[in-house]
Amino acid sequence: MQVNPLHYILNVNCLEELDFHLVRERLQSNSLVIIRGLISKYEIEKSIFKIKKYFRKENDNPTIGESPKDIQRNFQKLLVGGHTHSGLYLTRLFRTFYNPMWEEDIFEMHKIYKLMIRIRNLCSNYPEEFAISKIEDNGLWSATRIHQYPTGGGYFTKHKDTVLTKVSKENNISFYQVILNMTKLGKDFESGGAFVEIEGKKIIFEKEFDIGDIIIYDERTLHGVDEIDITKNLNLDTICGRITAFVSLYKDIK
Ligand SMILES: [Fe+2]
Repeated sequence: MQVNPLHYILNVNCLEELDFHLVRERLQSNSLVIIRGLISKYEIEKSIFKIKKYFRKENDNPTIGESPKDIQRNFQKLLVGGHTHSGLYLTRLFRTFYNPMWEEDIFEMHKIYKLMIRIRNLCSNYPEEFAISKIEDNGLWSATRIHQYPTGGGYFTKHKDTVLTKVSKENNISFYQVILNMTKLGKDFESGGAFVEIEGKKIIFEKEFDIGDIIIYDERTLHGVDEIDITKNLNLDTICGRITAFVSLYKDIK
């Protein structure tokens, strides 16, 4: 079957316009849904400007070793090399800016995260307001954050989200990842990008979709990030390459 990326896009003007029966149905059958029209390019440009302005390389924390409480604050870390999660060994190179809803809105992203969390909740048939601005009694919270894949080799090995899926399963939530496209192939970088593999065919987000598109995929979907501008020198000194936002449901491990 020919996979046409445009078939995954749903155009809307506001959240109320979105038919979540249709979204869930599409996720069930296609594993991928793109929601277009909710976030403007201007809003994203504004946030990227803030990320660049706020960024200090010396604030990078190491790949592992932080406490669970650290990431519940505005917290920056550089993830390098391999790490085992639930017996699965994965390698990667990217920077994360944890930016929880109860912390200062340093990137002017909180309004956007809130919308993304609502979408995540509604996809999973959960109360719309679940884990928006607090850690729920069962320890679940939304790890709102920015990921930056630097020019010159930022990547993430192809995988399925086993850890996050486990958190969702233990708490009886069907698992969906909701992310935001904040950069574009050909504009912010020349090669590589985030992808899902459907029926053996790669769909590269930054190639097929626009800045401001919200991308939803499910646990069955293989995904990863192909090396960003691998023919260039690695640049860890500035905010460059691919940028995206996540609102994954995390479990506070006490
Ligand atoms: Fe993942």
